[in-house]
Amino acid sequence: MTLIIAVDGPAASGKGTIAARLAQTYGLPHLDTGLLYRAVGMKVLEAGGSLDDEASATQAARGLDPADLSDDARLTTGEAGEAASRVAGFVGVRAALLELQQAFAAQAGGAVLDGRDIGTVIAPEAQAKLFVTAAPEVRATRRWKQLTARGIEISFADMLADIQRRDDRDAGRGSAPMVQAEDAVLLDTTDMGIEAAFDAARRIVEAARAKHDL
Ligand code: DC
Repeated sequence: MTLIIAVDGPAASGKGTIAARLAQTYGLPHLDTGLLYRAVGMKVLEAGGSLDDEASATQAARGLDPADLSDDARLTTGEAGEAASRVAGFVGVRAALLELQQAFAAQAGGAVLDGRDIGTVIAPEAQAKLFVTAAPEVRATRRWKQLTARGIEISFADMLADIQRRDDRDAGRGSAPMVQAEDAVLLDTTDMGIEAAFDAARRIVEAARAKHDL
């Protein structure tokens, strides 16, 4: 049995938590593909490069190794998210990260991947596809609470502006833009807590399994 679960959606929609919990439930490996782009963005910044320079970003993506992904605290900052969104617009960067993600999706038994283009580009063959979203104000509130709890000071207005800028950039780019796959199920978590959102996600996966006799 192979079960590939694709979880796409905008920043702070809850897709990462949902993907991690689905992976645990079904005993599947999980790849947070946003971390790859975050690591590339941070490599460029740490080398003193510019986020507008496609050649440096592509080189950083080609040379990515597991050690670049190990420091979670460094990769989960707002700065890393913004850098990720910028380098993610380069065709060369996306091409350099394609094979690794497709190999992860193709492993025996299946996998869960979350990102922006999993159901459309990385694993269009996925049996279960979810597009997780929520109103921008709700996503900004969730992210603001997380950051404030970690002692990071940011105003709510700045947080909302960050989220909207990132949505526009991720959805507006020419290469593999963030878009709901035609066969993905929309899960709007605006009025849901994490438990309700996870239950809804599990029901979507169960329906996909029944449909595919898995
Ligand atoms: O999911 P995240 O917030 O960690 O992603 C950070 C950025 O990386 C996001 O703004 C766009 C980019 N990204 C992408 O273009 N494609 C993916 N599959 C995952 C992330």
